[in-house]
Amino acid sequence: MGLRAPLRVAVGVSGRGSNLRALQEQAPAYGYVITGVVSNNPAAAAIDYARSQGLAVHVVDHREFPSRAAFEQALAGALDSLAPDVIALAGFLRVLGTDFVDHYRGRLLNIHPSLLPAFPGLDTHRRALASGARFHGATVHQVTSTVDGGPIIAQAGLVVVPGESPASLGARVLALEHALYPYVLGRWARGEVACNGPQAPLPLRAPRA
Ligand code: GRF
Repeated sequence: MGLRAPLRVAVGVSGRGSNLRALQEQAPAYGYVITGVVSNNPAAAAIDYARSQGLAVHVVDHREFPSRAAFEQALAGALDSLAPDVIALAGFLRVLGTDFVDHYRGRLLNIHPSLLPAFPGLDTHRRALASGARFHGATVHQVTSTVDGGPIIAQAGLVVVPGESPASLGARVLALEHALYPYVLGRWARGEVACNGPQAPLPLRAPRA
């Protein structure tokens, strides 16, 4: 019985990068390693953070490609150069096509700021408050070609405080995200999560004794 090699994680970003930071900071404790970062946005703040950490960064600017297929081919090339076991999208703001998603079936994850299937899409905190939802939170799910519609892996929830603002609710959900995503990858690194296909149920099993 040798030591298991750390799970190799590539992170996809487009913006601020607070989830990237949380993933990087908690990697040693959870037994995975971030092998690099891809961004479709050359101006993403996440890139500066990644470089400050010495992480490999690949910028694949979708605006420089004539088609989505060409962009996704370049993106896949960048990702494959990082040899990831898992790809963790974290605020990655491009919708990905079927070919791309199928290529990474079973190892492409996203984090979304709602308790899916409630509130797919954007502006989730305002919409949750407007709907009178009593609970809200964050979801890590497998990516399929249905936006925010892939099988759910894990969720973290909170109770909505009457009268709170979307900004306050969003900040509380973001704190949950920063705990949830590293936790899921840690469980994955221990072999306790499996994604077998786009429609497979993906329960987090109890930790091994
Ligand atoms: C997070 O709320 C994430 O759930 C959503 O986009 C946001 C990204 O934030 N998909 P950050 O770039 O990780 O700070």
